[in-house]
Amino acid sequence: MSSRTRAAGRLTDTAASLPAESLSGGFPAIRMRRNRKTPWSRRLVAEHRLSPSDLIWPMFVVDGEGQRVPVASMPDVERLSVDLIVEAAKEAVDLGIPAVALFPFTDPKKRSEDAQEAFNGDNLVCRATRAIKKAKLDIGVILDVALDPYTSHGHDGLLIGDEIANDETNAALVKQALVQAEAGADVLAPSDMMDGRIGIIRAALESADFKNTQIMSYAAKYASAFYGPFRDAVGSTGLLKGDKRTYQMDPANTEEALREVAIDLDEGADMVMVKPGMPYLDIVQRVSSEFGVPTFAYQVSGEYAMLAGAFERGWLDRDKTMLESLLAFKRAGASGVLTYFAPRAAKLLAD
Ligand code: PBG
Repeated sequence: MSSRTRAAGRLTDTAASLPAESLSGGFPAIRMRRNRKTPWSRRLVAEHRLSPSDLIWPMFVVDGEGQRVPVASMPDVERLSVDLIVEAAKEAVDLGIPAVALFPFTDPKKRSEDAQEAFNGDNLVCRATRAIKKAKLDIGVILDVALDPYTSHGHDGLLIGDEIANDETNAALVKQALVQAEAGADVLAPSDMMDGRIGIIRAALESADFKNTQIMSYAAKYASAFYGPFRDAVGSTGLLKGDKRTYQMDPANTEEALREVAIDLDEGADMVMVKPGMPYLDIVQRVSSEFGVPTFAYQVSGEYAMLAGAFERGWLDRDKTMLESLLAFKRAGASGVLTYFAPRAAKLLAD
């Protein structure tokens, strides 16, 4: 037998040991579970990953020193005085969290129809921002631009008669934005949903020589019942007259969210946000895929309360559920998430 024939014989033998038909077109050629079999393989094929760099930690600032005031509807969340905000910001740096977002609990005596305290360069968020900047921490400070923590009626804008007056509010927001930029805020986050505010704030920042102050626009912000615990945290719950449906978006709408985002980008927003988060993942996904700009999601107070409440009762596994809820935002295309779970999640991710 020539070597050629022998080789051919071996080939034939091999072929004979294969199933009669080649495997294609589905099971069992395709077994999706092969890649899931081992931890290393699951890690290797993971499409999305959550890291501390994806997290923004929202914090509530309160008057005084050494103050930690629990928020009843947000287990484990405390309002902190400025000195402790600086400590928390240091913790954030150590955990690899890139930015914090500060919200004030304004003394009711300082709230007014015209929101004067918002323009006070020594108000709580401005003082906290200065203190963080003075500590020379490598961390971004994000401040909300909206009047609700300062108005006696709890609205984000100025009330004239029964109406939230758009253009008058914009003028007020500009004053607030400039005071905050002056205090050293790195990112201004207009959360008020007035029309035209991004452009007007951007123009004011340019002419006041704050051209590098970033704007993260709450571009698609819905009139949501999920903000309830936040309003407790900033003390505006009992104050709010009516609701915010004349300026925040109708939860029924998607296309409108895309228009809002397009407009804010056009007016000079550097980053956009969708809010709330988990009930609006479809919006996060569409915004991130259609615009390809830094897109953030806010896992708001009500989402936090929902999960934290279930954790307390032992109904859901705290750490696993928390990380799964955050990873969902990455899968939807978010660049990052504002979440009250930020410190705990960052700790877990570091381990
Ligand atoms: C204020 C503001 C709100 C939130 C962030 N900025 C509340 C609201 O619009 O009523 C909500 C955040 C949260 O619920 O965690 N404009």
